[in-house]
Amino acid sequence: MTKVAIIGGSGYTGYELLRLLAGHEKVEVCAITSRQFKGTSIEDEFPSLKGFYEGRIFIDANDYTSIDADIFFLCLPHSAGMEAVKTLINAGKKVIDLSADFRIKDPAIYEEWYTKHTAKELIAEAVYGLPELYREKIRTARLIANPGCYPTSVVLGLLPLLKDNLIDTNSIIIDSKSGSSGAGRTPGKELNFVEESLNFKAYKVGEHRHTPEIEQELSAIAKTSLNVSFTPHLLPVSRGILSTIYANLHGTNSTEELLKVSSEFYDGEPFIRILSSGKLPELDDVRGTNFCDIGLKVDARTGRVIVISAIDNLTKGASGAAIQNMNLMVGFDEEEGLLTQVVSV
Ligand SMILES: NC(=O)c1ccc[n+]([C@@H]2O[C@H](COP(=O)([O-])OP(=O)(O)OC[C@H]3O[C@@H](n4cnc5c(N)ncnc54)[C@H](OP(=O)(O)O)[C@@H]3O)[C@@H](O)[C@H]2O)c1
Repeated sequence: MTKVAIIGGSGYTGYELLRLLAGHEKVEVCAITSRQFKGTSIEDEFPSLKGFYEGRIFIDANDYTSIDADIFFLCLPHSAGMEAVKTLINAGKKVIDLSADFRIKDPAIYEEWYTKHTAKELIAEAVYGLPELYREKIRTARLIANPGCYPTSVVLGLLPLLKDNLIDTNSIIIDSKSGSSGAGRTPGKELNFVEESLNFKAYKVGEHRHTPEIEQELSAIAKTSLNVSFTPHLLPVSRGILSTIYANLHGTNSTEELLKVSSEFYDGEPFIRILSSGKLPELDDVRGTNFCDIGLKVDARTGRVIVISAIDNLTKGASGAAIQNMNLMVGFDEEEGLLTQVVSV
C-alpha cells in the first residue's frame, strides 16, 4: 500500500481525491488536513462518502513532515503551500501540488500574474503533470505541478494540431465555460445561488491567471512563442469545463482529416476520447470521470477549425489528473482508481 496525505482535504479538490481514492485498491489515505474542520468526521462533512472513511477525522498539522506518508497531495490556494513543498521535498517526500505555484517556468511571469515566489529553486525541477505530454518525466518526478483546469482542456484540444503544424499559432481564440466548483469551496458574492443560478457571464476577460500557463504549454508544443485570446465564463452548473477553441488553418484540411490526426496522436491514451465527425463533447458525458472528450469541425467558409473539448474540472482538471500522476510516479496501472462510472442522466 502506498500511503498518501491530502493537505487541504476539506475543499473541492480534496473531496474529489477522497471520492476517487475510496476506489483505489493500492492506496491508503493516512491523513486529511483542514484547519477549519479539525476534529470533524470526514463522513459528516462529506455525507456522500459515508461508509468509505469510517472513524476518520480531519487533522491539522503545522509540520506536514510529521505525517507518515510517501506522497502528499497539496490542495491549497496558490502560495499557501510553497514553504511546505520545500520542507516536504527536503524530507524526501513526493509532492503533487494542485495549485499554480510550480506550473509557470519563468518566476517573473509567475510573480506578474500571482504573487511573490518563495521556492524558486524548485520550479525548474517541477514536472508539469500532463501525462499526454510529459509521461516519462512524471514517472521519475519528485514534484508535480498539477495542471490548471482550463489549461488542461485547451492544451489537450490543440496538442495534435499544433504538433503537426496545422494551425496558425497567432490566431488562437479560446472561449471556455466552467462550472462554479472551479472557484473552490469558499463562496464569493458572485458565486452565491441568487447571482449564479440561471445566469451566464464572462469574467476576467483577457486577464485570467491561466493565460500564461496556456501560452507556456502551447508555445512549448508549437516550438514558438505564441499568445492567445482567452475568455472564461461562469456556467450555472457545479462541475465541468467546455472549451471552444478557434484557430486559422494553414491548409484546406477537412474535418475528417483533422479528426484522424487527433485520433492517431492520442491512440492508446486511456483518458482521451476523440469523437467522430458530427459529434461534439458535452459536460454530461465527462462528469465525475477522468476523460477529456474532444470534437472538432472545420469551417471551410472562414478557413478555421473549431475544436471543442470537455472535462470535469475537479477530475481530469484537478484530482483525477493528480491520481493519474501518482499512478505513474509509483508505477501503478495509470488507470487505477480512475475508471469511475459515467453518469449522464
Ligand atoms: N476547484 C477546481 O476546479 C481546481 C482545479 C484545478 C486546480 N485547482 C487548484 O487546487 C487548489 C485547491 O482548490 P480547491 O478548489 O480545492 O480549493 P478550496 O475548495 O477553497 O479548498 C482549499 C483547501 O485548502 C485549505 N486551506 C486554505 N487556506 C489554507 C492555508 N493558508 N493553509 C492551509 N490550508 C489552507 C482549506 O481548508 P481550511 O481552510 O479548513 O484549512 C481547504 O481544505 C487551488 O490552488 C486551486 O487553484 C482547483
